[in-house]
Amino acid sequence: MSFPDGFLWGAGTSAYQIEGHHGRGESVWDEFCRRPGAVEGGGDASRACDSFLRWREDVELIRELGLGAYRFSTGWSRVMPEGTRADPKALDHYERFVDALLDAGVEPVLTLNHWDMPAGMSWAERSTAHAFASYAGAVAERLADRVTWWITQNEPWIIALLGYQLGLHAPGVADLGTAVKAGHHVLLGHGAAADVLHAHAGVMAGAALSLFPCDPATGSEADWAAAAGSDGYVNRWYLDPLLGDGYPADTREHWERALGHDLAFVLDGDEAAIGGRSDFLGINYYTRRVMAAAPADPFPWRVVGPSGDVARTDEGWEINPGALRDLLIGLSRRFPGTPLMITENGGVFGDAPTHDGRVHDTRRIAYLRDHVAAVGEAVDAGADVRGYLHWSLMDNFEWALGYRPRFGLVHVDYATGVRTIKDSGRYYARLIAGGGTAPALPRIEAFG
Ligand code: FCB
Repeated sequence: MSFPDGFLWGAGTSAYQIEGHHGRGESVWDEFCRRPGAVEGGGDASRACDSFLRWREDVELIRELGLGAYRFSTGWSRVMPEGTRADPKALDHYERFVDALLDAGVEPVLTLNHWDMPAGMSWAERSTAHAFASYAGAVAERLADRVTWWITQNEPWIIALLGYQLGLHAPGVADLGTAVKAGHHVLLGHGAAADVLHAHAGVMAGAALSLFPCDPATGSEADWAAAAGSDGYVNRWYLDPLLGDGYPADTREHWERALGHDLAFVLDGDEAAIGGRSDFLGINYYTRRVMAAAPADPFPWRVVGPSGDVARTDEGWEINPGALRDLLIGLSRRFPGTPLMITENGGVFGDAPTHDGRVHDTRRIAYLRDHVAAVGEAVDAGADVRGYLHWSLMDNFEWALGYRPRFGLVHVDYATGVRTIKDSGRYYARLIAGGGTAPALPRIEAFG
């Protein structure tokens, strides 16, 4: 298995999940966290991993792990505390941070919207796309001369689903029509921000999509149709317009039927303003969906699996690296010429430090090894994959789930802020040093 020269081996985090408040403006997530019951355990991100203060330590960890790339986000509510004007001190901070990464030989991968938009803003408003472009412009003004890889939006479907359809994420709206509209505005925001970024030479702009392969539960025609419908809802509704094909007709018809009206918020010219602006596609892959037909309204399908005795993370998500391989191969065939990057992939494994002070997270090691191998197989089959960024560099604030799920290669003791590299982090360091060749299994067991 051969990964191409320059392949980016890295890990990711996002501002709101690690930084802590420290002078940031009010974010939609601050408001959301104050709602009783909104966040499991009642926590908030006022401290999180304290990375706004401990960022030098984070860069040291990145260096120690030998990462070639680090995905982080600039906090929108930090850069624009009132939503309109950029705070130069915030940009100074990110400039210092990026310079420290570059000094360590680490390629920065910068996300602009990893969900912490300034309080009072909403993707239900079309004007938010323009506000986002002006934020993108302020960050690019400072950093486009040294950051090549830019991610405009993180997970448009999840923003629409959890933030506006189910009300489980900020801003906590639960209305299907608003969710479809918000999703459209998120994509418009991508287009507007990408245009601003492209005013700077050499920039690679893309969005990171949460892609969930959808498989039918049985061979029946109805279940195949359910899988195709779900694929439209979750994946193609974002993928197709971003990569220049416009909204898929079947999903558009589905929305018009479910909402009982035309999508009047999609104006003439919008699809042209979204497509044709992605220099790469970011893929966040965690698991797949198994679908069956259902008479339910508004969705004639439902998730029924994976069920049964399959390997799962501590969050119950099926571990299925083969689906990642097939996804990458499928995307590279469907969108030839669009480079792919794994912008997130990881799992919840709750291992804690043992008496020897180490974290023996052997299941994360196996997860990492198998998903990297799957990416390698896709590369061997011709997929143009430019990097693999594991989620996450360290345990962090997992949104509405609070601090319970641990995704990190590095353990964080939230009471003290102390970071401990897990066995998976050490394993990843060796895998990276070997250019993606997994250290042999017996050596993995030596960690256990
Ligand atoms: C993704 C998010 C990321 C983190 C992981 C587990 O949906 O982009 O911030 O929550 O899931």
